[in-house]
Amino acid sequence: QQQLLSTCELSGKTVLVTAGPTSEAIDPVRYITNHSTGKMGYAIAKAAIRKGAKVILVSGKTNLKPPLGLEKFLAVESTMDMYNAVVENLDGCDIIIKSAAVADYTPKTKSDKKIKKTEGELVLELQRNPDILFEIGKIKGDRILVGFAAETDDLMENAAKKIEKKNLDFIVANDITKEGAGFGVDTNIAKILYRDGSVIELEKMSKDELSEIILQKVAELSGK
Ligand code: CTP
Ligand code: CA
Repeated sequence: QQQLLSTCELSGKTVLVTAGPTSEAIDPVRYITNHSTGKMGYAIAKAAIRKGAKVILVSGKTNLKPPLGLEKFLAVESTMDMYNAVVENLDGCDIIIKSAAVADYTPKTKSDKKIKKTEGELVLELQRNPDILFEIGKIKGDRILVGFAAETDDLMENAAKKIEKKNLDFIVANDITKEGAGFGVDTNIAKILYRDGSVIELEKMSKDELSEIILQKVAELSGK
């Protein structure tokens, strides 16, 4: 059992965490989103505060209360909003942890008026959103960059590809088909993969406990 002790391993550091889903408007009434509830990201933000960091939380729509002790809370909706919030706050950040479940696509056109139904089918054309982590990976400098990968197939292979492609220090991979992992639940079953191929396999644990471990690994990398 992981202890949730407060320590100061990250004092003097600024940590930016993204959490929750992004949602993409179709018209004033409808949107496209995913099952993320923000629990993992909010737990990470809390763990970083416990470790003495200044924490900026960029959050999509969730039902969660922002934790006490945040430096900044930025509520966003779309992937584009999240991208802008992350880029605008990058300057003073030492550590970026991207646990948000980001919508990869957005409707090509957004209707200002409610789309009325007709007898026929409705075809929605979607275009790619920016990959926030990939863009940050290109300009990260000596910042520590941590990503997440939620997969249903080929977990390790896909997660390893994402470390390389997005220039991450490590990735937290979880198989969302397992009970007690993934969206909505209070627990997670994760593997931490590093660039050099080393892997830490973790048992099922609470998202608070997992956050504590993630932040410990971040603190090790940041040399404190
Ligand atoms: N991510 C991001 N911007 C996006 C999509 C993903 O920053 N437009 C981040 C997520 O926050 C996560 C990591 O990239 O930390 C991996 O997200 P994931 O959806 O698993 O990977 P993708 O590269 O989008 O690939 P796919 O959805 O095809 O598996
Ligand atoms: Ca994706």
